[in-house]
Amino acid sequence: MLVKNARLRKQEGFWQIHIQNGMFQQIAPTVVCEDTDVLDVDGKLVLPPFVEPHIHLDCVYTAGEPRWNQSGTLFEGIALWEERKQQLTKEDVKSRAWKAIRTQITHGVQFIRSHVDVTDPSLTAMRAMLEVKEEVANLVDLQLVAFPQDGILSFPNGLSLLEEAVKMGADCVGGIPHYEFTRDYGVESLKKVFEIAQKYDKMIDVHCDEIDDGQSRFLEVLAAEAYRLGMGARTTASHAVAMHSYNNAYAHKLFRLLRLSKINIVSCPTENTHLQGRFDTFPKRRGITRVKDLMNNGVNVCIAQDSIMDPWYPIGTGNPMREIEMCIHMCHLMGYEEMLQSLDLVTENGAKALNLADRYGVEEGKPANFIVVDADNAYELIRDMAPVLYSVRQGKMLMKRPHAEPELFL
Ligand code: FE2
Repeated sequence: MLVKNARLRKQEGFWQIHIQNGMFQQIAPTVVCEDTDVLDVDGKLVLPPFVEPHIHLDCVYTAGEPRWNQSGTLFEGIALWEERKQQLTKEDVKSRAWKAIRTQITHGVQFIRSHVDVTDPSLTAMRAMLEVKEEVANLVDLQLVAFPQDGILSFPNGLSLLEEAVKMGADCVGGIPHYEFTRDYGVESLKKVFEIAQKYDKMIDVHCDEIDDGQSRFLEVLAAEAYRLGMGARTTASHAVAMHSYNNAYAHKLFRLLRLSKINIVSCPTENTHLQGRFDTFPKRRGITRVKDLMNNGVNVCIAQDSIMDPWYPIGTGNPMREIEMCIHMCHLMGYEEMLQSLDLVTENGAKALNLADRYGVEEGKPANFIVVDADNAYELIRDMAPVLYSVRQGKMLMKRPHAEPELFL
């Protein structure tokens, strides 16, 4: 395949991209080749595919089952999911997960990390998602996190279920320390997460401090342990919304540890805007972690959808541009350079969190995975929330969006 007249991020002019055997062979202003499979993108921006670093594919499309979440709190969501998960079957999980992955593909996503609830004695969702992972392998990279929704030490057999799910084939060990019964349980649960990750050579992705409680400080425990064990690059803290409520002196001290530890942070802008501040009167906290401060302090931070129509978040489309839109508003990231940089939050930074370095990026010698967006540059992409026109996976067309201009009657 020869991609003609592409614009590339942070590069001037037009570029030609020659793809051979599913790899980027040559990327240059002029390419001489006789390939007849030509895609002229007419000056549109070519990017590496979007990364979705945090979603719950086992829960998608269950909003309203058995009831809608009326309070909008994380805790009512957990209670509703507890009821819904009694009805899970492998087919139910697989069909909903497939539906979400299909829609994510239409939005240019090719790399996904999904949490899967393992506080279920039958581990039905994990069994289903391991099958989905195999089935979609040629379409998207799908990483699975063994996620103990109801706790590791606060749920009967939580620890053995977590380890069993990892043995079955999960890529990451999860945790939820702020939801454990006590602070001591939370700290102890994180020690267990590291033990299992080391024993089975897995990555770590913990739901960490997803609560509007300035006293919830498990992130420092996670980061300190990752630092001590040299596992920071393979460790992610998801949500970290309590950081929004930390006093500035403590946050300043924490940033040093986060930077030293090299752990990754995932923020979920739409989800946490919706869920947080629910116990506040006025003024209401926004409840998003400090994305801008983390970026300015050299911490790798990326953003994620988290939910599509589940007990925690009743809408959602799987489109990463919605997350950028919310994030740049809520985190005050609309300086011109900040807006341009915000594209990293759904591309490079997510790839780093997922440890994709060797196979991510529009660079010669890497797998030819890329998207073409309906914009000339990053600013227009973000301003217009421009759609993805093409998604190409290892040199083969994965998605093509029919392009229709609106008709005006002026
Ligand atoms: Fe989550």
